[in-house]
Amino acid sequence: GTYKEKYRPQFHFSPPANWMNDPNGMVYHKGEYHLFYQYYPDSNVWGPMHWGHAVSKNLIEWENLPIAITPDSLGWIFSGSAVFDSENSSGLGTAEKPPLVAIYTYHDNVKGDAGRIDFQTQGIAYSLDDGVTWDKFNGNPVLANPGIKDFRDPKVTKVEVEGKTQWIMSLAVKDKISFYSSPNLLEWTHESDFNPDWAAYGGVWECPDLFPLPSPGGEQKWILLVSINPGGPNGGSATQYFVGDFDGETFTTGQKEVKWLDHGTDNYAGVTWSNVPTSDGRKLFIGWMSNWNYAQVVPTEVWRSAMTLPRTLSLYKEGEELWLASNPVKELEQLREQSLTIEGKKIALENELLEFSLQPKADDFLATFENEFGEILLIGKNGDELFIDRTNSGIIDFKDGFASVMTAPLNELKINELKILLDRSSVEVFVNDGALAMTALVFPEHGYSDLLLDGFEAENKLYSLKSIW
Ligand code: FRU
Repeated sequence: GTYKEKYRPQFHFSPPANWMNDPNGMVYHKGEYHLFYQYYPDSNVWGPMHWGHAVSKNLIEWENLPIAITPDSLGWIFSGSAVFDSENSSGLGTAEKPPLVAIYTYHDNVKGDAGRIDFQTQGIAYSLDDGVTWDKFNGNPVLANPGIKDFRDPKVTKVEVEGKTQWIMSLAVKDKISFYSSPNLLEWTHESDFNPDWAAYGGVWECPDLFPLPSPGGEQKWILLVSINPGGPNGGSATQYFVGDFDGETFTTGQKEVKWLDHGTDNYAGVTWSNVPTSDGRKLFIGWMSNWNYAQVVPTEVWRSAMTLPRTLSLYKEGEELWLASNPVKELEQLREQSLTIEGKKIALENELLEFSLQPKADDFLATFENEFGEILLIGKNGDELFIDRTNSGIIDFKDGFASVMTAPLNELKINELKILLDRSSVEVFVNDGALAMTALVFPEHGYSDLLLDGFEAENKLYSLKSIW
């Protein structure tokens, strides 16, 4: 790929060529953010999974590296995570040269094809050259299958509770999250399961992530992300989250209703970076910017799928409850080329890569992106709902149901700012620094040439962004 193709994202990560899905193994190490991803290098649809690899110094500009982990006799390499084993607890490195360790799911397609259900196990690979090359652990799998068909996506995090440090693995097990503990990343003990009856169970549970975040009151809470497919609020794939507590063994929550990390159709299987320096202190997230409903048939052929913008996660309080905000990382501002003021209700869009900061005035409002070919993308508020309408947004006929109006309940959240990021085939909408997020793919054949604003202040802001490729 040249990164110049039609629809090629210009400020999002996408693989040079062929198929990508979930982000995997995100770990910060020696000044670099590693991003691995579910990758099939031989085709532009899903197939035998590898871990593709890219690195970034600023979360925005990416350098592609060779494939990191390839299938072996134990199976294809499904989703998982990576950690810096700084104390060499695994013994896979040395005290002087502690390893990076990746923990992933082996998907044994031969067993699967033979009709068995115990075909997913967890394996380990390690790197002694700062993440460039990876060797498989010779005792794989490290976690055998107990006879459950869906048993995957290990996300490992170092947890310190009451002076005791251990590795905790969150694992998606059909319709629950199982937690395992380990002193050394090699031997795992089952601790507990989490599956409250009011959670979203429209599809299989996938790609969990467990991590601490400070609440606005300063108290530490624990967040559990759980992706589900299907069963998202606007159809297909989506990620729910739980705010609660973790005591080193069990996750508990007082939450009573389903909460979504992103209300759009196109943010799935996202998890956070491990080992981000405490001096930075951010919880950094990235998601797969697609939906299993149509990911394999979107109108791009050289490559398929991009990641969302990297986002900072934080907790905020609304009413009596804690919610998870996700906001694009501040590094994105480095791409701003030109700042313009939108005076009045209409502006011609001279650039395809744009960031808007809009201030609603009326109770309901509408931003209309359009062109002379009749392609229209609508973003607005109607009553207590925010919506993105992509029914006539461009190419929509590659899959029934892609042409849709997606909505998000505002729960009386008052909108002060609407941030919109428009790339060549995506739009990301953030309310009030990420209190609510909506991400959607769009494929305008001609690009949007005008923006019409209805219900906003008289002056709004716009930045043109430069391409990272
Ligand atoms: C989520 C997922 C994971 C699995 C991977 C396979 O999109 O289904 O559960 O590990 O994709 O590519």
